[in-house]
Amino acid sequence: MGPSIRIFKNIDELSQFFTKKLASLVKETPGGSYFSMALSGGSTPRQVFDYMALHSGDQIDWHKMLVFWGDERCVEPESEESNFRMAKERLLDFIPIPAINIFRIKGESDPYVEAERYSEIVRRHVLSQNNIPRFDLMMLGLGEDGHTASIFPDNPGLFKSDRLFEVSENPYTKQQRITATGKIINQARHIVFLVTGQSKAEMVARIIERKEGWDKLPAGMVFSASGEQTWWLDDRAASGLMKT
Ligand code: 6PG
Repeated sequence: MGPSIRIFKNIDELSQFFTKKLASLVKETPGGSYFSMALSGGSTPRQVFDYMALHSGDQIDWHKMLVFWGDERCVEPESEESNFRMAKERLLDFIPIPAINIFRIKGESDPYVEAERYSEIVRRHVLSQNNIPRFDLMMLGLGEDGHTASIFPDNPGLFKSDRLFEVSENPYTKQQRITATGKIINQARHIVFLVTGQSKAEMVARIIERKEGWDKLPAGMVFSASGEQTWWLDDRAASGLMKT
C-alpha cells in the first residue's frame, strides 16, 4: 500500500490532527498493554510537541505510552543539540507520562556501546513481530538532502543494516549520531513523516513522486512492511507536488 498524503494549511492544523490521531490510536491499545512511539528531532516535530504540550491534556492516556527515539545526537542530554532535551523541554515536562515510560538514547555514552544497549532496551520493551520490535508509531522528519532519522545519503547502507540501531555521522558537521535502521523503521505499525516548510518542497516531491534518484535516498527507502505510511505536510512542503 503506497503512502497516504495529507496536506494542512499550517503547522497548527497539522499538530491538531496528529494529536487527535495519536489519541485515537492510544485509545485502541488493548487494556494492559502499552503504545510505543519513537520520536524524531527536527523543527516540525518541535512545533508539534509545543502544540501537544498545550492541547493534548486529557486527550491522551500518557500512562499507556512508552516513548523512545528514532535517533539522537551523540551529545550530553543537557546539550542544545539533544533530541531528548528538545522533547523534554517542549513536551515531556508538560504531560503526565511516568519517567519510567521514557527511554532516552544516551548520547553521552560511547556511540557503539549505546547503539547496542539501546537495541536491547527496545527489544525488551517493544513487542516484536517476526522477531523485530514493532513500534506502534515511528515519527520521522525529512532533511533537504533526503535524510531521515539520522541516516544520510552518503551512507544509505545503514538503512539496510541487520542491527536495530547503528552509529552514523552527520556528513556536514561530522557529529556522530545513533540512528534507527530501516529494519526497525519499516517494521513500525504507523510510519508518519512530519514535514513543513518551503525548503522541503523539492525533496518531498522527489520522493513521493518517485523522481530521479528517489530510491537511493534514505527517506525513499522507508516503506512500511505491513502498516500504514503517511506524509503529513503543510502547504509549503507540499507545494512541489503535482496538482491532482
Ligand atoms: C534530527 C532528526 C532529523 C530531522 C531532519 C529534519 O535529529 O535532526 O531526526 O531526521 O527530522 O533533519 O529536520 P528539520 O525539520 O529541522 O529540517
